[in-house]
Amino acid sequence: EGQEQPPKQSWSFSGPVGKFDRAQLQRGFKVYREVCQACHSLSLISFRNLAEPGGPGFSTAQAAAVAAEYKIQDGPNDAGEMFERPGRLADRFPKPFANDNAARAANGGALPPDLSLIAKARTYERGGLWFLLDLVTQYQEQGPDYIDALLQGYTEAPKDFTLPEGTSYNKYFPGHAIGMPAPLSDGQVTYDDGSPQTLAQYSKDVTAFLMWAAEPHMEARKRLGIQVMIFLLIFAGLLYFTKKKVWAAVK
Ligand code: HEM
Repeated sequence: EGQEQPPKQSWSFSGPVGKFDRAQLQRGFKVYREVCQACHSLSLISFRNLAEPGGPGFSTAQAAAVAAEYKIQDGPNDAGEMFERPGRLADRFPKPFANDNAARAANGGALPPDLSLIAKARTYERGGLWFLLDLVTQYQEQGPDYIDALLQGYTEAPKDFTLPEGTSYNKYFPGHAIGMPAPLSDGQVTYDDGSPQTLAQYSKDVTAFLMWAAEPHMEARKRLGIQVMIFLLIFAGLLYFTKKKVWAAVK
């Protein structure tokens, strides 16, 4: 009850020919690294992904430099010991906590979910065949719309709402009492491309970055889709003329 729907946003990556905005992905990555990463893992993404086509557009050297800033648990070595070493391109992003129990303990009992696929999370609220319509129309970007709204959805709790200890009120979180304190505020992250350093901009950027993380090959997939449609169109034309020729004698 009283659940507000996240407003619909226009994203560069929506639609059949949508693409990621490289600069936005780089800014979003900066927000992830400086803020979200303190609590959330991104365990399905490797450093090398940062330099792959269709992503934030880092060079391989830049991605390797990013990797080297992280400490990775490795081992056992020949002496049977575990050790730490700087990250390499092939490593995944390390998790901020040793395990889920440690993560919960640090967050008042709430578990910060892994963010690798969070942008793909959807809640289809309408049943029946509406599901199909929602699938192809307004709910395509439901995940990103929700994350963007959630990050900006912290407000004072209404007077009649009892906020459980250690939670914050969020307009868009189901049930409103969220275990994540408002992570972003104006001016928190420094951008060096002149983009506004505002809560609204940070939210958009980190959401776009998480969309890319959830679907790193989106651009290639959409390109192939367009190519397939063009092929089918030409093929349909060929079949039509073939059919005419084959049946020409039959009147
Ligand atoms: C939950 C994103 C920063 C702690 C979540 C959820 C998202 C998210 C999408 C899931 C909400 C849902 O279940 O509907 C982000 C982003 C961040 C960020 C994009 C950076 C801008 C942080 C930080 C902390 C944190 C810094 C720790 C201080 C948590 C916790 C939950 C959570 C504990 C679980 C909340 C609950 O289930 O009640 N976050 N987060 N997050 N986040 Fe974050």
